[in-house]
Amino acid sequence: MNQAVPASPLTARRSGALTGRVRVPGDKSISLRSLILGALAVGETRITGMLEGEDAISTANAMKALGAFVERTGERAWRVRGVGVGGFAEPSAALDFGNSGTGCRLAMGAVAGCPIKVTFDGDASLRTRPMRRILDPLEKMGARTLEIREGGRLPVVMQGARDPMPIEYEAPVPSAQLKSAVLLAGLAAPGATTVIEKEATRDHTEKMLRHFGASLRVTHIGEHGRRITLEGQPELEAAPVVVPADPSSAAFPLVAALIVPGSEVVLEGVMLNPLRTGLYTTLREMGASIKMVEQRNEGGEDVADLRIRAGALKGVDVPAERAPIMIDEYPILAIAASFAEGVTRMRGLKELRVKESDRLEGTAAMLRANGVEVEIEGDDLIVNGKGRAAGGGVVATHMDHRIAMSALVMGLGSERDVSVDDAAFIATSFPGFIELMRGLGGDFS
Ligand code: S3P
Repeated sequence: MNQAVPASPLTARRSGALTGRVRVPGDKSISLRSLILGALAVGETRITGMLEGEDAISTANAMKALGAFVERTGERAWRVRGVGVGGFAEPSAALDFGNSGTGCRLAMGAVAGCPIKVTFDGDASLRTRPMRRILDPLEKMGARTLEIREGGRLPVVMQGARDPMPIEYEAPVPSAQLKSAVLLAGLAAPGATTVIEKEATRDHTEKMLRHFGASLRVTHIGEHGRRITLEGQPELEAAPVVVPADPSSAAFPLVAALIVPGSEVVLEGVMLNPLRTGLYTTLREMGASIKMVEQRNEGGEDVADLRIRAGALKGVDVPAERAPIMIDEYPILAIAASFAEGVTRMRGLKELRVKESDRLEGTAAMLRANGVEVEIEGDDLIVNGKGRAAGGGVVATHMDHRIAMSALVMGLGSERDVSVDDAAFIATSFPGFIELMRGLGGDFS
């Protein structure tokens, strides 16, 4: 755990028009859930289009250590044979989730309903992230936290519940990871487990639970909220999973195509789940040309090919209510805002402080290092776009894949080169990013 991997610096420079048709890797949220639910189901789950990034690999290894059979059968094709709800075995060593907050937190939920003792750990980035928000409801359901580092940080030793209890839980923060952890723990509890969210977050866990045979009721509360009730102790049955292209990964070539003059790019089969597409709404408000063609349904999700053309962008006000449906996209939106004309104010970004790094500070520092006017006011990020970025900066990525990719995209359109101190973490969510961007005409060295 936490081995020192040598940093791998990289530089992006102003490129000619980006052109071509590409497919970004499979969705991270769906890939990780297919491994975890596959491990809890009876029978063999076949996954196609799987994200073969480090976050998925560490989650797959954790599922194996808990007793599931997990095997790669071909390119992006995996199979998982599960142990049944409540059937995880006690692993002989700590589970190392590397950089993956989602893998770790969802696995905590799944383990909480099994009478086993498990140590959860991760890399230096994951060790800075808050775990109390997950453990609080899991303790109410009967799990015990035997050890935890100061500040509610990993490593955590958890004793899962022998007789898990269902709860009704109102999430204090909008977090799909928190909601998912409670629902996964609720699988092993008798009766109904309910999560109430004031602002709806991505619903992949709910959709996949249903796909595996669980019974869920979802009702809307007001304009943005939801109440989700799961009937406990279902027979989860293996079911095939087709993973669509990740809209959060598509965001990087998409914004690159918008800001590099003359570009025209097609991104194939991108998932359009409405709880993930806030970035597309925002970019269109900024004047971006994004056409959705060949709309279809793949594996239970709407997908489309996105046709993107470079063009002028203008600053906009992004409402706080939109944050949960574009939470991972603010660093790359801030790049688009730098190349826009006028002020973009992104409101309500408190949760960005607890991502793979403090993304509010990291995004502001990335822009500042490259000559863009930026301010943080409370939880808002304000970018004063001038239609261009000077570049010339070296960006500290703080083990954060999305900061690294955002900075490199910036370099493709900036007047001077943009470098990152470490591009290695890109492999957590977007293996092959540099090769894909080079294929479109991006210049990196
Ligand atoms: C995820 C939820 C989000 C997101 C993360 C993936 C998920 O985190 O940032 O990349 O798959 O459930 P939070 O639940 O902490 O907002």
